[in-house]
Amino acid sequence: MSSKPDPQRMEKIVSLCKRRGFIFQSSEIYGGLNGFWDYGPLGVELKNNLKQYWWRVMVRERDDVVGLDGSILMNRAVWKASGHEDTFSDPMVDCRTCKARLRADQLIEKSGVKQCPNCGGKDLTEARAFNLMLKTFIGATEDESAVTYLRPETAQSIFVQFKNVLDTSRKKLPFGIAQIGKAFRNEINPRNFTFRSREFEQMELEYFCRAEQGLDLLAYWLKERLRFYQDIGITRQRLHVIDVLETERAFYSQGTFDIEYDFPFGRQELEGVAYRTDYDLMQHQKASGKSLEYFDEETKQKFVPHVVEPSAGVDRTVLALICEAYSEDEAPDEKGKMETRIVLRFHPRMAPIKCGIFPLLKNKEQLVAKAKEIVDLLRPQMNVFYDESGAIGRRYRRQDEAGTPFGVTVDFETLGEKDAALRDTVTLRERDSMKQERVKISELSQLLLTRVA
Ligand code: GAP
Repeated sequence: MSSKPDPQRMEKIVSLCKRRGFIFQSSEIYGGLNGFWDYGPLGVELKNNLKQYWWRVMVRERDDVVGLDGSILMNRAVWKASGHEDTFSDPMVDCRTCKARLRADQLIEKSGVKQCPNCGGKDLTEARAFNLMLKTFIGATEDESAVTYLRPETAQSIFVQFKNVLDTSRKKLPFGIAQIGKAFRNEINPRNFTFRSREFEQMELEYFCRAEQGLDLLAYWLKERLRFYQDIGITRQRLHVIDVLETERAFYSQGTFDIEYDFPFGRQELEGVAYRTDYDLMQHQKASGKSLEYFDEETKQKFVPHVVEPSAGVDRTVLALICEAYSEDEAPDEKGKMETRIVLRFHPRMAPIKCGIFPLLKNKEQLVAKAKEIVDLLRPQMNVFYDESGAIGRRYRRQDEAGTPFGVTVDFETLGEKDAALRDTVTLRERDSMKQERVKISELSQLLLTRVA
C-alpha cells in the first residue's frame, strides 16, 4: 500500500466491513444517521482487543499509571472552565448554490478562489464559528439551568478528579491517570467512514509531572506511543510524526506531536501527544475554588502539576488496523485453480477470532465430537469459531477474510485411523503463509496462547 490516496481500496474495505460484520451504519433500516456507526460481531471483538491491549500496556503493566471511568455528562461548569463552551468550535461555511454546510478547511481552492467541494460553487458565506459540543438537558425542565453537554473528550473528568485519585492512590509525581470512553462531537461534516464520527471513543492518558519534566516526558510518550502502534501491527513507514508549529498548537501547549497514518483516503491524524503545561488543572482550580495542588513531601512545597497527554482515537485506530490488514493475494481453490484471496492480516493479538476449528467432514460423528472437544478446550482462553459447513478450502477462505490467524482441522489422522502415532494430533494452518503443521491437541492451547498474547 502506498501513501497515495486509493479510493477503490477504501471502497473494498468499507464493503468488507459490512459483508463480514465489522461495522454497520447506525440505524441503517431507517436510512442511517450521519456520523454514527455500530460495530458488528467481528468489529466489537477487534475494538475490545485494541482497548484491552492499550489498558494492559498503559495501565496494568506500569506502576505509575492508574485508571478512571468518568461519567459522560458533567456539571456545565466543567465545560465553561475548560474553555470548551466558548471556544470548542470549527469554522463553518455555507455554499449558497447547493446549500451544503462545510468546514472552512475543507473548501477547495482553484486559481486562488475558494470553491465548494460538492458542486464547485463559488458563492460561499463568510466563515463563522460552530460549536462542536452536543447539547442536552438534565431533568424535567428544558431551560438554560438544565443545559449540559455530552463530553467532547474524556480528559476533563481526569482533571476534575485529579485530587480524589491522588489522595486515594497515593501516587507520587510523575504519575498518570488513564481513561477509555465515549466522546461526542457535532462534526460539521462527518466523513471517511468512521474516521470523523460524531460519536467515538478515546483512549487518553494524562501524565502529571513537574514543570521541568514536561518536555522530556513529551519525547518519552511520543516514543512509547509509536512503539504501541508497531506492537499492534501498524507498519512504522505508514506512521508519520508531525511536530505541530507553535502558531498551530493550543496557546497553552509547549509542544505537540500529531501521529498520522497513511489511510487509503490520505494521511490523517491517529493521535495527538501534547504537553499541556498546568493549564487544565489551573483552570479548574480557579473556577471551582478548590485546591488541585500537589504537596511535595521532600521539599515541603505545594504546586499545580503540569501534564503530558497522549490522546488516541479507538475508532480511528480500528480503522487503521483494518486498512493495514486488508490484502489480496492468490491461492488455489478446491480444483487447484488460482483465485483471488482476500485476507485481513491482523496481528494475532488484535485478530477478532484467534482460531477457526473445523472437522474435515460434518457427517462423521467422531470428527465433529473431537472438534467440539477442542472448542471447549480453547474457548476459556481465546475467541474461537467452529465451522463445519462447506468444503474445507471455503472454510479457510472465510476465516482468512475475517482475519483469523490460525485454523485447526480435525481429520482421520486425529482419530488414529491411518497411523496410531498421529492419534490426537491436528493440522494447524497459519493464515498468511497458509503453511500447515501437525500438533498434539494437548499442546495446542499453550502454543496458540504464546502466538496471540
Ligand atoms: N483531549 C485531547 C483531545 O481530545 P483531539 O485531538 O481533539 O484531542 C484526540 O482528539 C483523538 O481523538 C484524535 O487524535 C482522534 O484519534 C480522536 N478523534 C477526535 N475527533 C474524532 C472524531 N470526530 N471521530 C473519530 N475520532 C476522533
